[in-house]
Amino acid sequence: MKDPSNPTVYFNGDYVTKESVSISPDDRGFLFGDGVYEVVRSYGGRIFGLDAHLQRMHNGLCALQIRGIDAAAFGEVCEQLLARNDLSQEDALVYMQVTRGVAPPPRRHAFPNVPTRPTSYAVPFPFQSKGDVTKGVKVITAPDIRWARCDIKSVNLLANCLANQRAQEAGATEAILVRDGVALEATASCFFGVFRGVVRTAPKSNYILPSITRQVTLDLCREAGITAVEAPIFLDEVASADELFLAGTTLEIMPIVEVDGRMVGDGRPGPVQQRLYDLFVQRTRP
Ligand SMILES: Cc1ncc(COP(=O)(O)O)c(C=O)c1O
Repeated sequence: MKDPSNPTVYFNGDYVTKESVSISPDDRGFLFGDGVYEVVRSYGGRIFGLDAHLQRMHNGLCALQIRGIDAAAFGEVCEQLLARNDLSQEDALVYMQVTRGVAPPPRRHAFPNVPTRPTSYAVPFPFQSKGDVTKGVKVITAPDIRWARCDIKSVNLLANCLANQRAQEAGATEAILVRDGVALEATASCFFGVFRGVVRTAPKSNYILPSITRQVTLDLCREAGITAVEAPIFLDEVASADELFLAGTTLEIMPIVEVDGRMVGDGRPGPVQQRLYDLFVQRTRP
């Protein structure tokens, strides 16, 4: 990458240097967290799951009634950003953000009376996998204090930030968010357990993000003949799991070896996660 501190970014239709971007203090993303984002990962320049990510962005924009943005057009934006930043052969992430745009004062919670132009921004980063998949990661559990539309990939991530901070302070990688006794997902990844050989993850609902990696993992289970169910994992079952793992664009399929200081199984990655990870690598790498 030419200049990691000042990459070429996409801003409202143009490719410009990051330093040249300025966003209004009246932007509703700044004022209210009124917007959505997406993250895609490219392996050797090939973006994995692009269409699914852009469909989710489209769904989020519709849910928030943010109009005038074609989520599908971000596909070309991602390709351009990788090319313009010499990342076409590299592993990278591209973050895309769309907010409702700049609302003229006076400040009000309701949508502006006049149509606003959404603010759109995208930026790439060179990226290597975090964590060591051969060793696994530690997690904590934390109360899920998020709102009731976790299915929208909103830029308003404060509850996720607070729980993730708690995880970092505890020397852990992630926090598993627990609502009404159910371990739903983590702050930036989804949560799987293996119970008596059956893979389980929370069913889709308004309380979890419809994660792209979650769906890929379920598909891989089916293809590999591993029984998988979409059913709640109760917090009081977690200690009895054969295996636990996280799944997400940045963590891929990452074993959990410790929860709240207690070892999972023998404290090492398990065979089901390892098999799924191997299949995931085959599917994602060019
Ligand atoms: C709350 C939450 N759950 C799950 C995920 C994983 O989603 P995906 O597989 O689409 O990256 C993310 C990713 O950012 C997330 O923020």
